Amino acid sequence: MSNPNRTENDMIKFKHWKIEHDDKNIAWCHLDMLDANANLLSVKVIEELDTIVESFSLNLPQAVIILSDKSNGFIFGADIKEFTTLDTQQQAHDFLQRGHDLMNKLEALPCPTVSLVHGICFGGGTELSLACNYIIATDDRRTKIGLPEIKLGIHPGYGGTARSIERCGPMAAMGIMLTGRALSARAAKKIGLIDEVVPLRQLKKAAESFALNAPVRKRPRLMARLANSALARPLVASQMRKQVAAKARPQHYPAPYKLIDLWQKHVGNKKRMLEQEILSVAELTTTLTARNLIKVFFLQEKLKSLGKKSDFKVEHVHVIGGGIMGGDIAAWCAIQGYSVSVQDQSPERLAQTFKRAQTSFKKKFKRDRRAIRDANDRLLPDHRGAGITRADIIIEAIFEDCEVKRELYQSIEPKMKDTTILATNTSSIKLEDLSSCLKKPGRLVGLHFFNPVAMMPLVEIIRGPQTDEQVMQQVLAFGKNIGKLPLPVKSSPGFLVNRILMPYILEAVTMVSEGIPAEVIDKAATDFGMPMGPVELADTVGLDICKSVAQILSEALGLALPADLENMTKASLLGKKSGQGFYKYQNGKAVKNKNAHYNNPQEVQDRLILRLLNEAIACLREGIVEDRDLIDAGVIFGTGFAPFTGGPLNYIQQQGKESLEKILASLENKLGKQFKSDNGWALL
Ligand code: NAI
Repeated sequence: MSNPNRTENDMIKFKHWKIEHDDKNIAWCHLDMLDANANLLSVKVIEELDTIVESFSLNLPQAVIILSDKSNGFIFGADIKEFTTLDTQQQAHDFLQRGHDLMNKLEALPCPTVSLVHGICFGGGTELSLACNYIIATDDRRTKIGLPEIKLGIHPGYGGTARSIERCGPMAAMGIMLTGRALSARAAKKIGLIDEVVPLRQLKKAAESFALNAPVRKRPRLMARLANSALARPLVASQMRKQVAAKARPQHYPAPYKLIDLWQKHVGNKKRMLEQEILSVAELTTTLTARNLIKVFFLQEKLKSLGKKSDFKVEHVHVIGGGIMGGDIAAWCAIQGYSVSVQDQSPERLAQTFKRAQTSFKKKFKRDRRAIRDANDRLLPDHRGAGITRADIIIEAIFEDCEVKRELYQSIEPKMKDTTILATNTSSIKLEDLSSCLKKPGRLVGLHFFNPVAMMPLVEIIRGPQTDEQVMQQVLAFGKNIGKLPLPVKSSPGFLVNRILMPYILEAVTMVSEGIPAEVIDKAATDFGMPMGPVELADTVGLDICKSVAQILSEALGLALPADLENMTKASLLGKKSGQGFYKYQNGKAVKNKNAHYNNPQEVQDRLILRLLNEAIACLREGIVEDRDLIDAGVIFGTGFAPFTGGPLNYIQQQGKESLEKILASLENKLGKQFKSDNGWALL
């Protein structure tokens, strides 16, 4: 550890921490992690604060206040990179114990302690705050508080389990830990996680008042604590397990189940619960699930970083085509703070677009009327296309027809600023077929959103053979700035995500034609860890859309097009939107036969997954994206492919190519058909 430097105004400087004693003898502990954009609760940061807190116990200040000197937030959490160095449970145990020792010392200080939260406060940052007597946060929109460890395959491990339950009662605390969701300051106060919400300008005054007056903290209400009683716990725990099971299987995601066990067995004995928390997280940290989910976290960071290479500033976005995709893209950009004009063929069509936008705004901003009003102010109906001349980026989302799109481009190009980017949301047309009509073909790029826009985190940024590199970088930055994960992809049939998904969906449709019940096929996929089965997915996307993407891909990749797809679309059985596809739909839900049975569900699963894995390998071979990480990232964030596997290529590596090849060979033997494409499986 570095030696602290004492400065003239009684400021003691460490490497990451700075301690300032004011005239009331309050010790203000400022965290400003060295050489980092954001504060993390790394081992070094913990060690320094540990020494500082020990010095307080020898020379007690009037109060201790912890705050961040970074402009972007309080503490983003533990340093996840450090987790990847923990190979054994013992190493993980020692690592966690260090954090526990600090939190316990901080909690035991006999003077008031206050945590000041402005901006992001996640994981270890929240756990550090929970070890203080009071937590005060700003009402700023950027302030978010949460315990998201579950998303990394663990649960809070620096005392956050016992302390959050102590503060807000088991239902609220388990709710935030099991979902990992982030709360606004107001929502955090409502459940009792924090004590006060104030405007930023009053933050320090409020902290001083808490520090000097040390008000008695409210306990959670009796009703909230009741679930902790020995009588209620087994029942409540079993309810919790049921809710978790609806989303995550214990063999795939053990962390939520271990968290429930921890609470059920040890709540009421804080010391024991804290000790057991360490053991539980030490065990989870070394599981394959946690390792893979940590990998997924870094994949997400990698995609974000691809959007950081250009400082492209967008003042105005113009969207052409206010249908399902264009309308939702426009609403999404307005939600993200951009000024957006939407153009369609008539004001009547735009009225529909705006009606749907209201639903999106309400969903996003709930009852925050000011935010809804502001988003509405940013979204302009523009059926004559006045926004074209001032837009920095034009997003085209009109009908999927090459000629219609080309006609549009030719009519708008003369009106566009020289620097304006033209981004198409086409899902299947090659960029080169579209750009050849432009005077400046380098400005055309693909910006492929997924449906539903607000839910899907990925956007594919398609590089045509003529797309300028600068345009590519600018659109990657735009993708990131609108809160999506941008994935650069080469222009080729189906791009990455639809290409990998389609053979898997077609295999499912083929199995239905063979007489295997759709329910069995879908269950085989969800058992593997997919968010939805392929048959239901095809119905949800729409069998007409599925067919048209499948047609393009079948020509390019030589895939067989199952006759069912053709016959059903001809008969207007289009899936969920028409009320009947492979399933019948009632109130928007697929009606499934619970007794559907097939004698070899494992074979069904193998057929589905091997198709998908094979296509992932083919895409790697063809350089559809730059490296294997981007394949894994694209498939996870674009299709929801079982995140606990770390992505399809990671899955192959962990399962072992040989063992998968054996399954493949036996399938090929039995079914008498080829499962690998020429550039796929065998060549990995
Ligand atoms: P849609 O049919 O819902 O909307 C198209 C809109 O464009 C209509 O409102 C139409 O009036 C308007 N339009 C057509 N020609 C126009 C023109 N010349 N000027 C102004 N507006 C015009 O279609 P959807 O589903 O939104 O698809 C749009 C694009 O997005 C297509 O290229 C499609 O391939 C792509 N896409 C669709 C996805 C989906 O799930 N629906 C997913 C990803 C991409």
